[in-house]
Amino acid sequence: MKVDVPLSKFNRLINHGPVVLVTSVDERGKANIITLAWQMPVSRKPPRLAISVARGHYSHELIRCTREFVVNVPGADLLPAVWYCGKHTGRSVDKFEEAKLTSLPASKVRAPLIGECFGHLECRLVPVEGNDHTIFIGEVLAVSADEGVFGPEWVIREDGPRTLHHLGGDTFTTPGERLKA
Ligand SMILES: Cc1cc2nc3c(=O)[nH]c(=O)nc-3n(C[C@H](O)[C@H](O)[C@H](O)COP(=O)(O)O)c2cc1C
Repeated sequence: MKVDVPLSKFNRLINHGPVVLVTSVDERGKANIITLAWQMPVSRKPPRLAISVARGHYSHELIRCTREFVVNVPGADLLPAVWYCGKHTGRSVDKFEEAKLTSLPASKVRAPLIGECFGHLECRLVPVEGNDHTIFIGEVLAVSADEGVFGPEWVIREDGPRTLHHLGGDTFTTPGERLKA
């Protein structure tokens, strides 16, 4: 037995990649943070990933203007900051200050790393236009992570950080049982 899901909720079946915090800067170097559930790797050589940002968001304006961004990966302990950065616009608040997050210099771009996150992908823009959201494809220029996050073969350790996955509304989940193929 199958039931219809409203088209407007199509993403609820495939929404659960890790939630990320994307940083960008304005022309003077002032940083902003946006919470995104919509992100994906799109190429290995060259290393590229895509993020999908609504046109009205301040981060859309910043990424378009400065053509750089950093994808920061938060652990589950950062849920309050993830929620705050997804519910307030950088047009009216300083999210680093309000969410009590630490800005660290990145190695290749002007947008900062978020110190409390456990992984960071510094990206330069390779733009592709979409519909009501724009898919920003970023070439990955540098990657870093907290020491000890990865175990053998670059797999995140079982006792390492648990990522946040957005199911919808104010409901999140974190990875549970591990399976070996
Ligand atoms: C869990 C969660 C996931 C979100 N995912 C996205 C997303 O993938 N794309 C998007 O454009 N906005 C997304 N948002 C909304 C933005 O984070 C939110 O509108 C933010 O306030 C915009 O900030 P800015 O105006 O400073 O750029 C999400 C919000 C939450 C809480």
